[in-house]
Amino acid sequence: MGRVLVTHPLPAGGTDALVDAGHELLEPGSRPLADWAPEVDGILCLLTDPIDAAVLKAGAAGNLRVVSLAAVGYDNVDVAEAAALGVTVCNTPGVLDESTADLAFLLVLAANRLSSDAERDLRAGAWTGWDISDHLGTDVWGTCLGLVGYGRIGQAVARRAEGFGMEVLHHARSDTGVPGYVAELPELLARADTVSLHVPLTPETRHLIGAAELATMKPTAVLVNTARGAVVDEPALARALERGELHAAGLDVYSHEPAIDPELLAAPRTVLLPHIGSATTRTRVAMARMAAEAICAVLAGRMPAHTVSV
Ligand code: GLV
Repeated sequence: MGRVLVTHPLPAGGTDALVDAGHELLEPGSRPLADWAPEVDGILCLLTDPIDAAVLKAGAAGNLRVVSLAAVGYDNVDVAEAAALGVTVCNTPGVLDESTADLAFLLVLAANRLSSDAERDLRAGAWTGWDISDHLGTDVWGTCLGLVGYGRIGQAVARRAEGFGMEVLHHARSDTGVPGYVAELPELLARADTVSLHVPLTPETRHLIGAAELATMKPTAVLVNTARGAVVDEPALARALERGELHAAGLDVYSHEPAIDPELLAAPRTVLLPHIGSATTRTRVAMARMAAEAICAVLAGRMPAHTVSV
């Protein structure tokens, strides 16, 4: 049986498959991952663990055969290096789609209705009573949602938006053949009242939404990001909000988590959440189980449910 490094404590039941298969589970303690890597057959990790070339090379020089992420995004893993070294990388697509789409839609509503500002005023004792002109946000019904990226999560957000009476457009690298497809990103940005991002972080999508793209959006528009922070140029977003060039933003992800760009923290009309897209008990347990089962599969010589390819 194999030795598996589990980098963080997982929700109850998360590692049952590994235990049942007889694998030895190890906790990293304060020892760096690159020191552990050559001594284990598998690593079960989170999106906060940098699985870089040094870790992978050290692992491949020993017994490392699989890195399994309890996450769908895998920008923290040097996938090209893993492929070159023959280390399988697995992730957890599918099980977190609905929870993440719920959170994205929560941000669509909260940012349009400026609910964080309203709650802040109430908590500060600044609410003087119902007023016909106070805390005026924007309706989402009858407006247009523009999805950037139309994978599983983007499609799950589209279903919610339709239920809320929104028109839904989407942009993806290639034609989806689905009504609402917009081939050119600037056209989608110019037409949408709310733009929600659902692309992985890659060299191509880093700062996909920068100053030029923000300037293309309506000054009344809202930006929602539940993908990865670096898809957005955060200082440019903060400036657009500050200057009133954008109505509001709802963010769950940041470029340098857990640090938040101070300009973004100071920017007006923002709803800022701490990367909780998939954070429900049911979904996090499912993610942990799926990641553990993938390690069992690879170490038993079977195909895991999902592998990440370069
Ligand atoms: C969360 O951001 C994930 O990638 O699973």
